[in-house]
Amino acid sequence: MQTVFRGRHFITLQDYTNEEIETMLDVSYDLKRKFAMGIDTPYLPHKTMFLMFFEQSTRTRNSMEAGIAQLGGHANYLDTSTMQVSHGESAKDTAVILSRFGHGIACRNCFWEEGNKYITEMAKHSSVPIFNLQCDLYHPMQALADLMTMEEKFKNTKKLKVSIIWAYATTHKKPISVPVSQVLLFPRFGMDVTLAYPKGYELPDWVIEKAKVYAAQYGGSVTLTHNMEEAYKDADVVIPKNWGNWVTNQSKDVIDDLLEANKAWKCTEEMMALTKPTSIYMHALPADRKNEVVDSVIDGPHSVIYDEAENRIHTAKAVMTLLMGGK
Ligand code: CP
Repeated sequence: MQTVFRGRHFITLQDYTNEEIETMLDVSYDLKRKFAMGIDTPYLPHKTMFLMFFEQSTRTRNSMEAGIAQLGGHANYLDTSTMQVSHGESAKDTAVILSRFGHGIACRNCFWEEGNKYITEMAKHSSVPIFNLQCDLYHPMQALADLMTMEEKFKNTKKLKVSIIWAYATTHKKPISVPVSQVLLFPRFGMDVTLAYPKGYELPDWVIEKAKVYAAQYGGSVTLTHNMEEAYKDADVVIPKNWGNWVTNQSKDVIDDLLEANKAWKCTEEMMALTKPTSIYMHALPADRKNEVVDSVIDGPHSVIYDEAENRIHTAKAVMTLLMGGK
């Protein structure tokens, strides 16, 4: 078991080995078990965590805020529209000052071609760990919770057919960070990943190339298709979720002709009937119910969305404990 985490940043799971990710999951299971038994876990007493959000959040904010409290610490929630960053204060100055005030800084900044750069710049200057709570490229907390959920449901993730499927939605132009993090992580654990999307919703080429390298290294595979039915067919896990066409169109408009041409990309009971009887339906949430998925699927027998969301707090607590605690 690899246990050298203290003081490291958490920007992408690519910075961690498989053995280190297994340690994160091991600690997550321990924290989950203890939470269920009502056993206190004061592993970060009196530690202060700053949570900077450039965007809205339900799961990420509350899993971090409740998580640090359950570990004996405290979170300062920072809506960046009320910070001097909104007047142009630099990432460096913000990171240096907050790191002198506390023990960890977490940030969500999903602006295309800005978010990852901002968080990476903070990491360069911070003397305490920086936690990526979702940027334009990565959502490592989500991918870790997803991996935990798949392990819980299937025990052995090797050779599972896991389909990451684009879905129609109109709520907002969503980042690509969830599918990118998933396609980069799952082949490392031996899964056969199918990525299905309409033309125009490509992920960056380097992501696919890297995912294929991981697949070759760890015994998984990566298949790309524009055929939605092919992705559902015999799948063990389906993750139908919208993402924006950022790679091909940087406009912030939510609705465009390409989106409207792909309304049929919806998770329905007919699609789920193509999957294995034991398949699970996952979604990072929030879901655009009725557009991305029908209620009878998201509320139906295959759905594990609430277990998946619950695992956000256990994994968040594990990551904070490992990076901010220890000797
Ligand atoms: N899945 C996820 O990150 O949810 P929030 O946007 O509510 O944090």
